[in-house]
Amino acid sequence: MDSFEWLNGYKVGFGLHHVDFTNPNRPRTPKYSAHFYYNIIRDNGFPLPDDEKMLSGHFRDDFIWSVATASYQIEGGWRADGKGLSIWDKFAHTPLRVFNDDTGDIACDSYNKVEEDVAILKQLKVTHYRFSISWPRVLPDGTTNHINEAGLNYYHKLVDALLAANIQPHITLYHWDLPQALQDIGGWENDTIVTKFRDYADLIFSRLGHKVKFWITINEPYNVANIGHGYGTAAPGISFRPGTLPYIVAHNLLKAHAEAWHVYNDKYRAEQKGIISITINSDWSEPRNPYKQEDYDAARRVVEFQLGWFAHPVYNGDYSEIMKTIIRERSLAAGLPKSRLPEFTPEEIKRIKGTYDYFGFNHYTTVLAFPVDYKNLQHYDADRGVGTIADRTWLDSGSAWLKVSPFGFRKILNFIKEEYGNPTIIITENGISERGAVDLNDVHRSYYYEKYINQLLKAYLLDGVDIHGYTAWTLMDNLEWATGFSERFGLFYLNHSDPDLPRVAKNSVSLYSKIIACNGFPDPASGHECLNPVTEESTVPPITDNAPVGFLGMGLSAADAETALNTTFALLIVAVFGAVCTSVGFLMAKKQSKKRQNVDSIKLEKTF
Ligand code: BGC
Repeated sequence: MDSFEWLNGYKVGFGLHHVDFTNPNRPRTPKYSAHFYYNIIRDNGFPLPDDEKMLSGHFRDDFIWSVATASYQIEGGWRADGKGLSIWDKFAHTPLRVFNDDTGDIACDSYNKVEEDVAILKQLKVTHYRFSISWPRVLPDGTTNHINEAGLNYYHKLVDALLAANIQPHITLYHWDLPQALQDIGGWENDTIVTKFRDYADLIFSRLGHKVKFWITINEPYNVANIGHGYGTAAPGISFRPGTLPYIVAHNLLKAHAEAWHVYNDKYRAEQKGIISITINSDWSEPRNPYKQEDYDAARRVVEFQLGWFAHPVYNGDYSEIMKTIIRERSLAAGLPKSRLPEFTPEEIKRIKGTYDYFGFNHYTTVLAFPVDYKNLQHYDADRGVGTIADRTWLDSGSAWLKVSPFGFRKILNFIKEEYGNPTIIITENGISERGAVDLNDVHRSYYYEKYINQLLKAYLLDGVDIHGYTAWTLMDNLEWATGFSERFGLFYLNHSDPDLPRVAKNSVSLYSKIIACNGFPDPASGHECLNPVTEESTVPPITDNAPVGFLGMGLSAADAETALNTTFALLIVAVFGAVCTSVGFLMAKKQSKKRQNVDSIKLEKTF
């Protein structure tokens, strides 16, 4: 406990317990470190928690194994064949908005590389491919007044090539590249966007719906609303009304999503028999100090303000009470006449509630939360009233915000199950980045996928979460929004120094395709054929539950393993040869030294 610290008196406390020296009873209160130390004693060290052990088992037989991209990040062809400009074209062409002033003008040139993209999808052996449609490529001014058939043909060509390869397309209608023409009249702030988005969706269903069974209306409305219109670090890059604009934009995004869902439901579902939903992203959040209730409350607010902002209206109807109360109270306290959070009418609540066929979910990382009082500031972070940090033991990635924390994946999946009525879930994104020197042996990515997908399996098998699919982010290195090409999330590396932009497999490709072939992580004792020795077709070693985490986790491909074995063998030969030479040399030297014994024995010994 804190005590008299010599020359420092009571100012410096070394104790596991705080002692109140102003109180004559000298009460002792355990600090966080006391609880921590208690756990070490109880566990007699640091045993591997159950949670970190690998689980054997597999997913449903009809599981969706997919990989994702987005139009602006990969397509290029920014002015090809009558395409209109998007807000990302404008944003990236504005100096200093994107790292290194990178743009998506060419990106991965997917607009001209359908065959190449489908070839690497086949190599991965995915059952589905998630990509997005560039709204201004199809509707250059954002409206159906003019349909750009050439642009639409690109998607026909892609969908046909996918179907020919037995890969199901999973199409996102909006992955952030709004037609600039619509931004010029207010973009997502102007509620006429709701019908414009509905008309765009209607057109796409009518043209592609007979071939496509999986749809996403809007990708990550949180990012559109808060990153694009609050922080302003994504297009359209607006940051001067952070207290109101993100909420208005979110309101219109929700209404637009609902209209697109209803069009599909009313006009196309019966005939086309597809499924359609919104994709929501969220971090998981833990209390920074698990012994503090206020940190628990802060952690809860992180999830309620990110996931709940959109999921609550879609699944439960209306915004959550937490958001409504906090934003109203803070608005009124700042002297505003009403809440900065817009209200839905009862009809709108009814129209939005239930507009899902599955829960589309993007997840990457976990944060540790604690309360922060932003006083009178009026913006999303101040409303949420939380500071976040990461645990220092979580592995880094190429993105400052992304720390490897697989346990949070299972936790947030359980949260979704409890909170939103056990919906069918499709993971529509999950993955990790690197930056700096290129190394195709992306051990961190193999590790990440193995651990995160195993947590998904635990959520499915042990917790009964209704998981139907998993999508890795992303197929190949591409334009990572405001960080340009510097952060690389791809399973395939894109060689920019070659004008053909070849797609080169990183080692994680073998690992992911192996998990796909095994439909999870079968018990080695099951003798599952996916565990058979390496052939040309499968290039990773068998997945074994008991394999040291480092083996599969290190993402060692069979080729790596073979190289490692060969190297070991070569080293062994050198060592044996060396030992023989040394012994022979030693004997000869000994003989010689005997001859010269009386001359310079000391010198001989030293030289030898
Ligand atoms: C987005 C992707 C993005 C990825 C990694 C998601 O927020 O949907 O477009 O590249 O995360 O940052």
